[in-house]
Amino acid sequence: MERRTKRTLKEWQRFLARSLLPLVPNAAREAQLLLMHHLRCDELHLLTNQNAMVQEDAWLKAALLRRMENEPLEYITNKVDFYGEEFYIDQGALIPRPETELLVDAVLKEVTDDFSGTFCEVGVGSGIISIMLAKHLPKARFIAVDISKEALRVARKNLALHNLEDRIALRHSDMLENVSEKIDYLVSNPPYIQNGVVLESNLSYEPQNALFGGEVGDEMVRELINLTLSRGINFFSCEIGYDQKAIIQTYLKNKNYESLRFYKDYAGFDRGFTLKC
Ligand SMILES: C[S@@+](CC[C@H](N)C(=O)[O-])C[C@H]1O[C@@H](n2cnc3c(N)ncnc32)[C@H](O)[C@@H]1O
Repeated sequence: MERRTKRTLKEWQRFLARSLLPLVPNAAREAQLLLMHHLRCDELHLLTNQNAMVQEDAWLKAALLRRMENEPLEYITNKVDFYGEEFYIDQGALIPRPETELLVDAVLKEVTDDFSGTFCEVGVGSGIISIMLAKHLPKARFIAVDISKEALRVARKNLALHNLEDRIALRHSDMLENVSEKIDYLVSNPPYIQNGVVLESNLSYEPQNALFGGEVGDEMVRELINLTLSRGINFFSCEIGYDQKAIIQTYLKNKNYESLRFYKDYAGFDRGFTLKC
């Protein structure tokens, strides 16, 4: 029979933190998060039960090995925070990034609480953008599409978790191919990294079609601008790469629209825009 290691919570915390230290910037915190997830407890329980005995089990062992291989913690615990709420996540969808909260803010700057138009999100991924917008805009209607069935599976889980299945229609679609309805507001955090760029190893765990946007990188952004103009959509808010502002400005030079406003991320880089037509 396999011998299973028994340690106090405090000892586990130290052991996990020490094992992760060479690889993970915030090893002590990640050790706590792994234990909290493993024991299904909160931080208070962890801190007030430091001498409780905990037996190693298959999950904890596997979780530590996965993290030591640089798999993101969010995929191991199947949890991610976004805009102050908790979401389900797995390798089927991109891990939501903090800067994408600014895309939600950009949209909420353009419309008031009683906006009752139709949103369409292209590239819904885990569902975080449409879900947060639906929570802030109770009268709006949402159609959210993705080319990846795996991403739609993750989004479906989050819609159920947040009780929004009635308000957000998920659809399998390449861009707006399967969306014939009139759209008032288009929103997207499309893949915008240039094909072939070598990324950090932890990014290899994420769906590659959520990261790479094409030979140049901004192909999908430009296609979405074309769709906004050709389908008479009033607003388009979009996240972009830090170096894509000038290309987008040039692309829109001779096109007919009302205004184009860019926003920056927390590090001060250009990160997105809202196009009003
Ligand atoms: C950067 S991720 C964004 C996911 C999520 N909205 C977020 O912000 O975390 C881009 C998403 O676009 C989807 N996607 C890529 N190409 C697409 C296309 N042609 N049509 C629809 N969705 C696409 C990917 O599958 C991925 O889920």
